[in-house]
Amino acid sequence: MQRMCKIIENRELCRDVYEMRLECPEIVQESKPGQFLHIKINKSADPLLRRPISISRIYRDTGCISIVYQCVGKGTEEMAALKQGEYIDVIGPLGNGFTLFQRKKSAVIGGGIGIAPLLEIVAELTDCDAYLGFRDNTFKLDEFASACKELHIATEDGSLGSRGNVTDIIKDIKKYEIVYACGPKAMLKRIKELCAEKNVKCFISIEERMGCGIGACLVCACKIKEGDAWHYKKVCTDGPVFEASEVDFDD
Ligand SMILES: Cc1cc2nc3c(=O)[nH]c(=O)nc-3n(C[C@H](O)[C@H](O)[C@H](O)COP(=O)(O)OP(=O)(O)OC[C@H]3O[C@@H](n4cnc5c(N)ncnc54)[C@H](O)[C@@H]3O)c2cc1C
Ligand code: FES
Repeated sequence: MQRMCKIIENRELCRDVYEMRLECPEIVQESKPGQFLHIKINKSADPLLRRPISISRIYRDTGCISIVYQCVGKGTEEMAALKQGEYIDVIGPLGNGFTLFQRKKSAVIGGGIGIAPLLEIVAELTDCDAYLGFRDNTFKLDEFASACKELHIATEDGSLGSRGNVTDIIKDIKKYEIVYACGPKAMLKRIKELCAEKNVKCFISIEERMGCGIGACLVCACKIKEGDAWHYKKVCTDGPVFEASEVDFDD
């Protein structure tokens, strides 16, 4: 679905991290956690390509979606300058999204801006713990705290929670039946190993560079293992969520 969506709110959460709430009732109806929006930042040819941003919250009662994004370049910096009441060109929801298992003891594990798509998971699941890692600035902690059972935090500079990486604070991964994760590749690779060691099912969302976002350009290829064979899948249409055991992080 391509829609011009009204910006209800666009506010800074902490340095270089923003939350934008969009009014998009038709997209909301089709959306699930882990899917993403493909956003055309402005009407000009620069930036030419749309930017993929995960759906962070789905507000079915008001027909709104919230996205949380980090300013890393031209597109996201222009997004940060957009004002309430302006409209933005959005295609979505795209990608497969997470399948939630309501009756299983679950954990979400997120690093940096990768915590964004995990918020809707904790909002929808009744028995879910969260492990979140940040470099220094933290954001969205209150929302996680009120939606999940246990919240564990790590910061690289030790300013909040434990000092170090999020993977260091997971003491007992085998108490979970399902893990959902999103964040830097090194973190996802370690979580894949931890879950494999204890035989825990793990789903990860991969934030690969994208071009078309609809399966046509092959920019987003990701190496996948199926049985003994390897092949490539497209993160935009086959993902961005994959079972961790099938992804080759050494590619
Ligand atoms: C499925 C998916 C979901 C995403 N969800 C979010 C989200 O919820 N919040 C968020 O802040 N970002 C998210 N991203 C990453 C986001 O799309 C990029 O940060 C954004 O496109 C950068 O655009 P830009 O014009 O600001 O920066 P550019 O000028 O295009 O790039 C700036 C820098 O960011 C790097 N970069 C650009 N795109 C990516 C990418 N996809 N992965 C890793 N590095 C990249 C570039 O290599 C460059 O170093 C997601 C990406 C994907 C594929
Ligand atoms: S972004 Fe073009 S095929 Fe995935």
